[in-house]
Amino acid sequence: MTEVTRIEWTEALKTSHAGLDNQHKELLAMVNELGEAIQQGQGAAAIKRIFACALAYADWHFRYEEELAAKYQCPIAERNLREHEAFRRLIAKFEQEYKAARTAELSGQGSSDAVEALAVNFHKQLTDWTVSHIAVVDKQIGEYVSAVTADKAKAATAC
Ligand SMILES: [Fe+2]
Ligand SMILES: [Fe+2]
Repeated sequence: MTEVTRIEWTEALKTSHAGLDNQHKELLAMVNELGEAIQQGQGAAAIKRIFACALAYADWHFRYEEELAAKYQCPIAERNLREHEAFRRLIAKFEQEYKAARTAELSGQGSSDAVEALAVNFHKQLTDWTVSHIAVVDKQIGEYVSAVTADKAKAATAC
């Protein structure tokens, strides 16, 4: 059985922004679902579904977060955009590799083990991106937005 790392929701991933935190939990659930499938030897079957879900998630969550960062002129907004692009490239790269591996498997040139190994590698890279991006970049966005909105609230009540 393949042992995979599960991403736990910890203090390190909290951004001080409830909306972002709730959306990030959805990404964690998606990555962990793939991890569970891999543990059960079902990674190859799960990976295909995850590609579509990951891209849909990117369209939904990244747009929300990028608009938020732009609205409050977060200093880290540019880096956030670049890392989001890297996420999309990661998905596209693995989707291509998956198609090639499946074609090889079906033609007798490859194997189901190769597709399963691809799922393990994809899960690892997805986990690394998710943890490091949220803990570093998104956290700064959430904290910045919370600080700005708290200051505005304070100024409004002082008048
Ligand atoms: Fe982000
Ligand atoms: Fe995010």
